[in-house]
Amino acid sequence: MNEINESAATDLQQHMPRHIAVVMDGNGRWANKRHLPRAAGHKAGVGSTRKIVESCVKKNIEALTIFAFSSENWNRPEAEVKALMSLFISTIMAEVRKLNKKNVCVSFIGDRTRFSEKLQNSINESEQLTKDNTGLHLNIAANYGGRWDVVNACKMIAEEVRDNKTTIKDIDEDRFNSFMSLSGLPAPDLFIRTGGEQRISNFLIWQLAYSELYFVDTLWPDFSEKEFDEALDWYAGRQRRFGKTGQQLLDDTADDTADGAAAEASH
Ligand code: IPE
Ligand code: IPE
Ligand code: MG
Repeated sequence: MNEINESAATDLQQHMPRHIAVVMDGNGRWANKRHLPRAAGHKAGVGSTRKIVESCVKKNIEALTIFAFSSENWNRPEAEVKALMSLFISTIMAEVRKLNKKNVCVSFIGDRTRFSEKLQNSINESEQLTKDNTGLHLNIAANYGGRWDVVNACKMIAEEVRDNKTTIKDIDEDRFNSFMSLSGLPAPDLFIRTGGEQRISNFLIWQLAYSELYFVDTLWPDFSEKEFDEALDWYAGRQRRFGKTGQQLLDDTADDTADGAAAEASH
């Protein structure tokens, strides 16, 4: 490897994700292993969520999107759904003020209309309280489904066409994306799923099109900051090609390095 390619490779290894998406899976199995009710696993999972959010704040990560409740999770036993709903309310109440002090901007994605009035109020209040914060964007996916997101965007575009605000000819990927959840943020660079399953489970199916996918067996309540750092190290070693060849990317970085050196020399 020549000198320029070596520094290009180093550059490639230094990048941090701007946006991380996490499927926090394994709470139920964590509880089962301890002969505890599944709800105890969800409660224990809150501790891991707090640690990972704090770690993102420390590392100046731009956005973190976490899967808290899928549109399919309503199919769980009624008692578990009930326990999850009351955990969401108590967690939002307890955490949001602290997050606000850390300059975190909290948003929820998903169809919130199915939640109780109390939960909808805490969701709205936490968004209101933190909306002007400029630090980490923490997006909580609650009653979220990727397919719902796509259908929802289609409905909004159809309304615009009906109202003559746009034409079918003007619909392209960027325009479509502007109707999707998280459209104001870069797409997730890194997707992490704990709990050993290697699937998307109807999370951000549109937004994850080019994300790096990282799966780990650790159950969510056991997922530590050290393991989060391991995921980031793994990500830093990935070469993101977006359809190009590996050599093209090395050449692009070498060109950038040469341009940078020329600009430096002219000063
Ligand atoms: C993820 O953990 C949390 C939610 C879906 C709310 P699970 O509850 O799916 O845990 P496992 O997969 O059964 O272990
Ligand atoms: C995905 O986990 C949803 C959340 C983590 C909130 P699930 O445990 O519901 O996913 P499946 O059913 O195993 O695919
Ligand atoms: Mg699960």
